[in-house]
Amino acid sequence: MSGSMKILVLGGGGREHALVWKLRQSPRAGTIYCAPGNGGIAEEAECLPVDFKNLDSMVALANRLQPDLTVIGPELPLMLGVVDEFTRRGWRTFGPTKAAAQLETSKSFAKEFLQRHRIPTAHYAICNSMDEVGDALPHFHTPIVVKADGLAAGKGVVIAPTKDAATTAASDMLSGRMLGDAGSRVVLEEFLEGDELSFLVVSDGERVAPLVAAQDHKRVGDGDTGPNTGGMGAYTTKTIIDEQMRDWLVTHIARPVVAGMKAEGAKYKGVLYCGLMMTARGPMVLEFNCRFGDPETQPTLMRLESDLVEAMEASIDGRTSDGDFKWSDDAAVCVVMASGGYPGAYQSGKKITGLEDALKLDGVKVFQAGTSHHDGDFYTAGGRVLGVTARAPDLQLAVDRAYEACAKISFDGAHYRKDIAARALKKT
Ligand code: AMP
Ligand code: GLY
Repeated sequence: MSGSMKILVLGGGGREHALVWKLRQSPRAGTIYCAPGNGGIAEEAECLPVDFKNLDSMVALANRLQPDLTVIGPELPLMLGVVDEFTRRGWRTFGPTKAAAQLETSKSFAKEFLQRHRIPTAHYAICNSMDEVGDALPHFHTPIVVKADGLAAGKGVVIAPTKDAATTAASDMLSGRMLGDAGSRVVLEEFLEGDELSFLVVSDGERVAPLVAAQDHKRVGDGDTGPNTGGMGAYTTKTIIDEQMRDWLVTHIARPVVAGMKAEGAKYKGVLYCGLMMTARGPMVLEFNCRFGDPETQPTLMRLESDLVEAMEASIDGRTSDGDFKWSDDAAVCVVMASGGYPGAYQSGKKITGLEDALKLDGVKVFQAGTSHHDGDFYTAGGRVLGVTARAPDLQLAVDRAYEACAKISFDGAHYRKDIAARALKKT
């Protein structure tokens, strides 16, 4: 640490551990604070308590710390307008305003925005009542995707195999039974087939700087089986998309989104996460997130060779440029080790062993998510516990290293997918 910047990271998962780790490498970084942080982050930053549901709690924290830069991990603080509030008070903050964050916080806003700006996305209908659902359903083929309009922590999407199942899902959401207010409006959507891709850019409201693309693995089980989770693993390689595709995604998706938001009076600054389905008809937007992905951030930042603080400052100051990020050609893979039962009910407080042995492996970094640390030991404290991440010259090696590291780590009930990046390996 040679710099003097005080940096505050809001969040406490694997994504925030990776952000803290990378931000710390900046020559400009001084003290790094993370709120609330976790057991692993506490080794690299000063962790402090905060309540994300409460804007006043975040303001009080920043008022005490007077950070030179604030970076926000999860969506909830963005939805509450933390960027607007911090910026108004003169604290430099990386991320979109509450109005710009609607791209993530309201799926109906995002779909109508995509249509207004002719950006490719699945055919859809927005419904405020069961009558509207009944009117729209005849126009869809099955399966039908039913989505809650608001934030639902990954639980707001049902892929309904029949129209009856779609009716039931929509009714559960609209009645408030399933997700409370987040489901008071639903989006019905055409089911798309293809490979999913997480394509992220950083924007200053005008220009974009693309990150390397990554792929998440959302289902809990091998072969994409079982329920959706927050993400069970991710990988990124130099060849995940070619340069031509990268340019297409910048020209036809990322730039039009940023230009559209500017034209609508809600300039988009910060990270724009485009969740895409690479269909036979071409890439289509499934969703936007107004933040970094978890677990995509873990392997992505392992490949980043340029200064993350600098790129974030460029976004805040309105001087983002296409080449703000420099990447290693290496591959990186993150395997999430989760608590027994996750994504359903799980127990916490299990002792984690083997971390030191895992970290001895070449190119391995273990980003911690749901962990706590006391008396020299780490314990589980959440559903997703660790993001075991490896960087290596090729994907096979990175996968092998990551799994070698997982094999050295244990805690009661631990489970993880054995096929992260397997489909990509088969293709090469
Ligand atoms: P979302 O929260 O909109 O990203 O949806 C969560 C997950 O549901 C996505 O990552 C996809 O795996 C799946 N999904 C969402 N929309 C569609 C769609 N139109 N067709 C197929 N799968 C979808
Ligand atoms: N990995 C998906 C997300 O962060 O939403």
